[in-house]
Amino acid sequence: MHILLDRSIRVPIFRQIYDGLRRAILDGRLRPGQRIPSTRSFAADLGVSRLPVLNAYEQLLHEGYLVGRTGSGTFVTGNIPDDLMRSRTTERLTPRARPVVGTRESAVRNQSSTTSWIFPVVPFQIGLPALDLFPQAAWAKLVAREVRAETPERLAYGDPAGLRSLRVAVAEHLRTSRAVRCVADQILIVPGSQAALRLAASTLLEPNDRVAIEEPGYFGAHRAFRAAGTHLVPVPVDAEGLNVAALQRRGAKIRAVYVTPSHQYPLGMTMSARRRFALLDWAARHESWILEDDYDSEFRYVSRPVGSLQGMDARDRVIYMGTFSKALFPALRVGYVVVPPLLWTRFLESRFAFDIFAPTLYQRSLAEFLETGHFARHLRRMRSAYLERRNALLRGLERHCDNLVEVHNSDAGLHVAVLLGEGLDDQDVVARLGRRGLAALPLSNAYIGPTRRQGLLLGFGCAPPQRLHAATRILGDVLREQS
Ligand SMILES: Cc1ncc(COP(=O)(O)O)c(C=O)c1O
Repeated sequence: MHILLDRSIRVPIFRQIYDGLRRAILDGRLRPGQRIPSTRSFAADLGVSRLPVLNAYEQLLHEGYLVGRTGSGTFVTGNIPDDLMRSRTTERLTPRARPVVGTRESAVRNQSSTTSWIFPVVPFQIGLPALDLFPQAAWAKLVAREVRAETPERLAYGDPAGLRSLRVAVAEHLRTSRAVRCVADQILIVPGSQAALRLAASTLLEPNDRVAIEEPGYFGAHRAFRAAGTHLVPVPVDAEGLNVAALQRRGAKIRAVYVTPSHQYPLGMTMSARRRFALLDWAARHESWILEDDYDSEFRYVSRPVGSLQGMDARDRVIYMGTFSKALFPALRVGYVVVPPLLWTRFLESRFAFDIFAPTLYQRSLAEFLETGHFARHLRRMRSAYLERRNALLRGLERHCDNLVEVHNSDAGLHVAVLLGEGLDDQDVVARLGRRGLAALPLSNAYIGPTRRQGLLLGFGCAPPQRLHAATRILGDVLREQS
């Protein structure tokens, strides 16, 4: 077993060891149940210290690729289905032309929703990053430079797939930090992940198709799939993410499943490796698509980021989508889709049909922002800022709302889901909070089926620690008034 380490690149050694082992497991070079070397001897083989090897093993144990048996060592998990371990050849990563299949869209079904789309920048607002900490001066300089550099050619039409330099930078970022298997030729730049969902729906689905979604789940996905005229099939989530056995029971004719495996929206769990393998297997057997929404996975506080589901997929069933709305700011309206090579032409055709291409000025500025290291620096600063904000929120909840709320999961992302005690109505709590200048979301709104847990989604991204702490005092008062 050998892994090639490259000390000339910016990817940390532990990450290279982790990627190498993960790939070896998924490619089948390491077989299920096979014993892997001790950290000491593997470190000696690689000529590195033991620490990065320990970190890589720990992460793989955490993600379920490895299992430890006391006294006898560390083994590759026995749960990986055989056919998931066929590696994809580079040839399959080269886009190939395919006849374009026409897509139809029905009229938008008129579904009323109580989820407001107004986002005041106040404590508990969900979905907003730390806009107060955005490096505005550096960004303004970059954008101004790009405006000055406009030429008649640059003011003409752009590539529907997106600006080449941005696609290259996004592919590099996704490969190294999200373990996505992709090349720039698979990246489609879109105006945010909402657009990515609509694009995927119009490319892959027909009106009346059935689409499985996590229950509770993301209201933006509900809207996108309803607007495409499809039927939503809610599938419960539990501590391991989407319940794949429940998905199987929903019957065979499900064309696609929407999931948030890195950080389930809204409850916050990470999908276990066991479930990921089961879901990939289900999709391959049913020839269904998996739509992976990796919206805020850059921010993880408890353990290291978990790799993408797309990176585990050997059969090209996953359409991966992400956004800069959380890592930078939502008004940027830049997101991306990683398209399996065989679907590329169909996606590009739909992309053209939507709005031809995304505005180039921000694409150019963003490519510069990524290439010059501003983005990586910003992410590093934001990780510690969010940790501080999250901790302030958790401390405040403990101090002012103890016994009134139960924190569901706070490992990652920019919000915390809390469950409310008996007799408390989340819509009512949110309305009362609104009257006091705070903006949470009711958990019950995230359900489309009849069983609805009462809880609150409390965003901590956009408010400084002291304001969050003060807001928890108001929340405590509101909850006590109600109970
Ligand atoms: C689950 C999920 N996906 C995606 C997004 C972001 O969407 P967009 O990229 O369209 O701004 C959000 C924002 O709150 C979200 O919660």
